[in-house]
Amino acid sequence: MKPNTTKIINYELIASEFDWKISEEKTIKAWGFNNSIPGPALKANKGDTLAIKVKNNLDEPTVVHWHGIRLPSSMDGTDDVQRTIQPGGEFEYRFVVPDAGTFWYHSHQNETVQMERGMYGALIVEEDSNIVTDAERVFMIDDMKLNASNEFKEGNFFQRWFERHDGRQGDTLLINGKENSVIEMSAGQTERWRFINASSAKYFRLHLSGKQFKIIATDGGLLERSIDASEVLLVPGERVEIVVGSFKEGDAFNVESLPYNRMSTIKPKHDVYATVRIGATQPTKAFIPEHFRDIESLAIQDATVTREVKFSVDPSLKHGIDFHVNGDVHTADKPVYVGELQVWEVSNTSLMDHPFHLHGFFFQVIEENGKMPAYKAWKDTVNIKPRSKVKIAWMPDNRPGMWMYHCHILEHHEAGMMAHFEIIDRAKGPMQHHHHHHLCENVPIKSPGL
Ligand code: C2O
Ligand code: CU
Repeated sequence: MKPNTTKIINYELIASEFDWKISEEKTIKAWGFNNSIPGPALKANKGDTLAIKVKNNLDEPTVVHWHGIRLPSSMDGTDDVQRTIQPGGEFEYRFVVPDAGTFWYHSHQNETVQMERGMYGALIVEEDSNIVTDAERVFMIDDMKLNASNEFKEGNFFQRWFERHDGRQGDTLLINGKENSVIEMSAGQTERWRFINASSAKYFRLHLSGKQFKIIATDGGLLERSIDASEVLLVPGERVEIVVGSFKEGDAFNVESLPYNRMSTIKPKHDVYATVRIGATQPTKAFIPEHFRDIESLAIQDATVTREVKFSVDPSLKHGIDFHVNGDVHTADKPVYVGELQVWEVSNTSLMDHPFHLHGFFFQVIEENGKMPAYKAWKDTVNIKPRSKVKIAWMPDNRPGMWMYHCHILEHHEAGMMAHFEIIDRAKGPMQHHHHHHLCENVPIKSPGL
């Protein structure tokens, strides 16, 4: 018998409204977890069980999604698979974290408000590797759109129209909930930086004033080997891990985003999020191996497509434009069967970029506009450029239930650019009561006040 080595790690997350100081001059009415933006960084080792009690002290329902974790459907934290957590209520999420990597959690209810106001945090699962760095940091990227008195205000009719079209983007640029932070790093050292793009819509094109770095991991953990780069695009929902350094004493550079034209009505800009200052030299113990792990290909580039998924933006009488998946809003897609390899061609026929996110499973990009990607990686979020196609491969392992995929620009998701689908175990058949928005009876409900 396998020895029982599973460690259970308990956390409590309390959602509430609180005052949050984003800079010396600016305090906002934030919504978040444990009175902080971001909420606490949850940490575990690969294979541990997380038991996270979420208590809702907001005046409206919420639910928490664990972005990127391969967990059971009932723990995915959407209103497809559980009742929302009512004001005053609580729910305990419990799941094993089977993969090492940089993940995150965020509200999955009224996201355009709840996430915009700060309801997110990091979830870090440590791997067992021989990578050694002198320090590790997590950077959660976000931007807020505040009015002159630092409030979140809904705009007028036209502003709302543009916000729905472009996604909400603001000038208050945050790293870990703070504006203009200064990051102190020692000369001679090498650090591992984990970036998570928690923005509603901002495309963060990471740049360190031209300093070279190494990309070592993406959404689903380590690459096979590091990639030298001086910039990397992080769309909403995506993560990247980089290794930086070493630098010389007195050096300084920015953590910034280069302009990226995602074809919205917002003018692309060069944005500075934080400054890094290099202090006195410290000894280093850093070691970055040549090879991290092997990533076995799920499918070859010209594998037969099993499903086509179409993202489009179409004229609508009611809204002017609608955000569609397969020509419909909040659509239901066909089921997928356990153990049957999926090769999806995700196309974007619109004139703007959309970040595609699949819940609960990692995929590999096997082709992008006819080309093979430069390196193999596990992903759960990928950008789809205007008028382009991305072919992904993924394996539905034995986790039947309701799942979803959607555009991670929150306003597009809300407008309907999403699809629900079921994963079915052929031997057992569909789960009961699975039609849109309904609960499976085997979902543990622990939310009082219902
Ligand atoms: Cu991070 Cu359904 O999303
Ligand atoms: Cu979109």
